[in-house]
Amino acid sequence: MTKFDVRNANMTMRDRLVLALDVDSGREALHLATELKESVGLFKVGHQLFTAAGPDIVRRIVDMGCRVFLDLKYHDIPNTVAGASAEAVKLGVRMFNVHALGGIEMMKAAVQSAGETAEKLNTERPVVLAVTILTSTDERTLRRELKITRSLRREVCHLARLANRAGMDGVVASPQEITMVRRAVRNDFVVLTPGVRPAWANQDDQKRVMTPAEAVAAGADYIVIGRPILKAENPGEAVEKIIQEMSGQMKAEKAKDQKI
Ligand code: C5P
Repeated sequence: MTKFDVRNANMTMRDRLVLALDVDSGREALHLATELKESVGLFKVGHQLFTAAGPDIVRRIVDMGCRVFLDLKYHDIPNTVAGASAEAVKLGVRMFNVHALGGIEMMKAAVQSAGETAEKLNTERPVVLAVTILTSTDERTLRRELKITRSLRREVCHLARLANRAGMDGVVASPQEITMVRRAVRNDFVVLTPGVRPAWANQDDQKRVMTPAEAVAAGADYIVIGRPILKAENPGEAVEKIIQEMSGQMKAEKAKDQKI
């Protein structure tokens, strides 16, 4: 997967669906990966699973032939982030991320180190994404705690442009931000979005949600979904329903039902 084919028009809805493996054991993660490896595009390994099961869980999922998005949101001095990025490449992940708030030099260090390591290993460089502002941060936190005085939307656009300038492949942004991020950056910029909830699922703690179909229509390349699949009685069925929703089939079917 190169930085260009991640936005390939031939990508299926399945390729675009990222399952957040937010579980507390390697065993559970492997069980889900085995069950759903043909059904989703990427498996996201985040802080909880990585802390519980270590880098070995990433190797094992990769060895099963699955694509992994390593969601560790690196934010440190450029030299340290460069080192961590090299290790992410060695693990064989297809995508990883850093915080845009780490600045241009840090983001450049991540992309450069990933590129050099991939070249040495004769493998493709993973997609490197920048997290703009976490969806759990609101305007009030931004202003009162972080003392960032511009609006949240303007700050997100600013950070997306910064990531663009640093040579990052794309950003992680909330569904509400997709349209304006798209306007602010180059065309082949990847947008991956969490905060997606199928119409039939509980919103949990996600506040500003969109449905899978809405997120894809707004221009998301990838959507990340966790609990609606993880907590479903039948995760495989939940995935299929989501893919149908992403394809807009549900809408079409509803329209058909209403006509009958
Ligand atoms: O269970 P749920 O679908 O809410 O999971 C969303 C996933 O996306 C979680 O792993 C969460 O850490 C991640 N995420 C998020 N909001 C962000 C960045 C990442 O929900 N802004």
